[in-house]
Amino acid sequence: MRARRPEQEASRRRRAEASSLLSAVVLVICLVQTQALSMSLMGSNNKGVTVIAGATGYIGKSAVRESVRQGYKTFALIRDRKKIESKEGKRLYGDYFDGAQVVEVDVADEERLLQVISEIKETEGEIDSVVSCLASRSGIKREAYNIDYQATLNCLNAGMENDAKHFVLLSAICVRKPLLHFQRAKLKFEAALQAQDKLKYSIVRPTAFFKSVSGQLERLQEGKSFLMFQDSTRANPIAESDLATYLIDCIADESRHNKVLNLGGPDKAMTKLEQGEMMFRSVSKEPKYSRLPVGIFDVSINALQWLADVFQNESLENAAELGRIGKYYAVEDMVTTEPTEMYGTITLQEHFDRIAKEGQEYDPYTTMTGIIGLIGKDGEEQNNGAVSTSDSLQPTSILEKETVGV
Ligand SMILES: NC(=O)c1ccc[n+]([C@@H]2O[C@H](COP(=O)([O-])OP(=O)(O)OC[C@H]3O[C@@H](n4cnc5c(N)ncnc54)[C@H](OP(=O)(O)O)[C@@H]3O)[C@@H](O)[C@H]2O)c1
Repeated sequence: MRARRPEQEASRRRRAEASSLLSAVVLVICLVQTQALSMSLMGSNNKGVTVIAGATGYIGKSAVRESVRQGYKTFALIRDRKKIESKEGKRLYGDYFDGAQVVEVDVADEERLLQVISEIKETEGEIDSVVSCLASRSGIKREAYNIDYQATLNCLNAGMENDAKHFVLLSAICVRKPLLHFQRAKLKFEAALQAQDKLKYSIVRPTAFFKSVSGQLERLQEGKSFLMFQDSTRANPIAESDLATYLIDCIADESRHNKVLNLGGPDKAMTKLEQGEMMFRSVSKEPKYSRLPVGIFDVSINALQWLADVFQNESLENAAELGRIGKYYAVEDMVTTEPTEMYGTITLQEHFDRIAKEGQEYDPYTTMTGIIGLIGKDGEEQNNGAVSTSDSLQPTSILEKETVGV
């Protein structure tokens, strides 16, 4: 074998060194890119700290994911860890809590909540925002005042005690015409939030959620009719992910501070009939509609309220309130019209098209059930399709489940 000359050997070594250096540079670039990618996917956790109450809710879980995605160190408050960690919980919640710190606390327990928020402040230094996506699950009086008012106030107080900078409240547009207990409870909290001057706030009042107008999809797929009380009741609902983005953007966007922000989706207001047409297009079926007189609510509500008054009975009072909630959603518009109040990228038709293909997760809390669902079911069977529903009145498979979602 011929020995290499010294200059050849030196050149070979230089090439080898250059090649190793290049490999090292490529490796570092790859590592940096991977890190950047995972930071952007998971959130870099360096934007600040958010605490999200009601994190297991329909919007709450999306707010958690969005907060992490935007780079906030995110603390998700949940009252029962099993709810997300059980087998069923994992199936339901999937990756919504990835990258967030889950803290088990009942927001109704003021003392423990204060302790938790204080610990977060001690370890993290400063809390940028407390975001409340809390909501009473039923809407009945006692629960509304316990959750929509008192538990949300507990979150505000704990934030104030710990010098949090900002509070985002997920409220509802329907509080503009408050006829129901949960609306009055929400307004009472909104007033408390606006009366204090320690934290900046953003009160977001959405129209309707997509889930609230999607409940009839399966029955249409089965060839049944679209149910409604009033053709003309209008809404421009908003997608869960769009609303979550809006909520979390409120933290850094000073133009949304100390404001009440009405918010609908990007569609123009659509009547119930138009929403039905859209849904039929998505499932490729011939439209057919069934209607029931709104008066059926009044009959039930009046009877239940009369019995509640005579017997001083809270359960009957609650049943009457559920009737009032059902009627409210059957007849009241949930609409924004100002361009600044129409937000998001996902239209209702796109949403219907997607769930028609992929299916949708059933949310028992969205659905008006119990007596009113029963009326709807019986009505349809007995009246040859003459049955109706409102945004919150959904098909009848859920009769045995929860009461009402609003
Ligand atoms: N549905 C609509 O179309 C619509 C439209 C506009 C505005 N809104 C408003 O948007 C808000 C959020 O609605 P959503 O559908 O996302 O709510 P949701 O799914 O019903 O979630 C409610 C959250 O509050 C928590 N919570 C309820 N009761 C509690 C209690 N006793 N103790 C501790 N936590 C409790 C729940 O925790 P658990 O999981 O442990 O129960 C859950 O995290 C509500 O204020 C609603 O009025 C709704």
